[in-house]
Amino acid sequence: MRKRSTFGSKFGTIAVVGGSVIGLGNIWRFPYVAGDNGGAAFILIYIVVSFLISVPLMITEFSIGRSAQRNSMRAFRKLTSHKRWGLLGFIGIASALLILSFYSVIAGWAMEYLFESFKGSYLSLGSEQITQNFNSFIASGWRSVIWTLLFVTCTAVIVSFGIEKGIERYNKLLMPVMFMIIVGMVVNSFFMPGFREAAAFLMTPDFSKITGKVWLEALGQSFFSMSIGLGAMVTYGSYISKRENLFKVAGTVAISDLTVAVLSGLAIFPAVFSYGISPTSGPELVFLTLPNIFAQMPGGYVVSILFFFLLCGAAITSTISLVEVLTAFVSEEFRLKRRSAIGVVVATVAMLSTICALSQMPDSQLKIGGMNIFDIFDHATSNYMLPIGGMLTAIFAGWIVNRTLLKNEMTTNGSFGVRIFSFVFKLVKYIIPIVIAILFLSKIGLLKLS
Ligand code: PHE
Repeated sequence: MRKRSTFGSKFGTIAVVGGSVIGLGNIWRFPYVAGDNGGAAFILIYIVVSFLISVPLMITEFSIGRSAQRNSMRAFRKLTSHKRWGLLGFIGIASALLILSFYSVIAGWAMEYLFESFKGSYLSLGSEQITQNFNSFIASGWRSVIWTLLFVTCTAVIVSFGIEKGIERYNKLLMPVMFMIIVGMVVNSFFMPGFREAAAFLMTPDFSKITGKVWLEALGQSFFSMSIGLGAMVTYGSYISKRENLFKVAGTVAISDLTVAVLSGLAIFPAVFSYGISPTSGPELVFLTLPNIFAQMPGGYVVSILFFFLLCGAAITSTISLVEVLTAFVSEEFRLKRRSAIGVVVATVAMLSTICALSQMPDSQLKIGGMNIFDIFDHATSNYMLPIGGMLTAIFAGWIVNRTLLKNEMTTNGSFGVRIFSFVFKLVKYIIPIVIAILFLSKIGLLKLS
């Protein structure tokens, strides 16, 4: 077998994995889900769950991929004689497809906002006008579809011409720039009239708000944000050098991911309260809020262009990882050349994402039980499919894979983290499957948590 190429350097590894992990999940989804679930209490649980569940699972996915030197579906099959575990890879494939479909719609919104930023459209608008503009953008249907398809095309071009390597280089430079801009926005928000209210909302937990639903939403958001539970990190693990410390890679990536999410919250909520936007606005929350920030901010014209440009970039580096998971599956299972496999994937995503975009039109019939297809894909993946994927991955690693093999891989043959291995292993083997099972039981009403 051809030796798989590995990421060049430690910083290279972190930049590439960070590229998948940091994206719309941090800047778009985290604020809206935190807003929907009451703020501070949600954030607290989110942090706990990220360190005790997501990070150990990320290390586990890396280890499975690096040990098997295979893409997700094949990796699960390679490490056991029970071929049924291939099914776990299949759930991941389905999740990747659905995520890519609704994610491309939001990335399309970001592109439209980049375009509007160039025109300086919203700099002179008040908050009501901004909301109206957004609503008419969604209501038109076709405008949203065009941007979505444009975004899907950009991803397809990058993946089919193999320019991800260039993107890696770009990532190393631009991620820190993105970080600095968000910090600048936090400082700016500090001076807004709604800052105090926002600080209370984000930092004073109301424990009575913690329900089973909040736990599950926090877990789902954490998995989504860290790209866990669908095999993406298995695939990336197969490219990580055999010398790398997996604990360190996962830890660094997780801390960066959390920091960006929390900072986005701090940048956005003061404006949410200052401009009378409802924190429970749902998926549009950030898109209703950001133009108000840029309209008021010194240098808002330039900052808004940079911000939306980088947001589109952050989205693309995430969709690349999703397309990789799907392309590897299609080309291996259907024995297609890489280019043709990408074609199949992109055509499917183009169709599904168009349906997602159209389902958001106010009079759309693309609804099931009162929920539009976009929301269904968004909720089904984060709140059900990724947690199930994560739970099965934990069971697989804890109970099926040979413990010594896992230990050697995770600790890089005893070089790193030997002492924390047994703690992480216990989390993976017992705590994670049990906690996720309990959350599901409470979700379907078989168990009452509070
Ligand atoms: N983690 C990415 C984000 O935060 C989204 C993603 C989910 C990417 C799952 C790959 C796999 O935007």
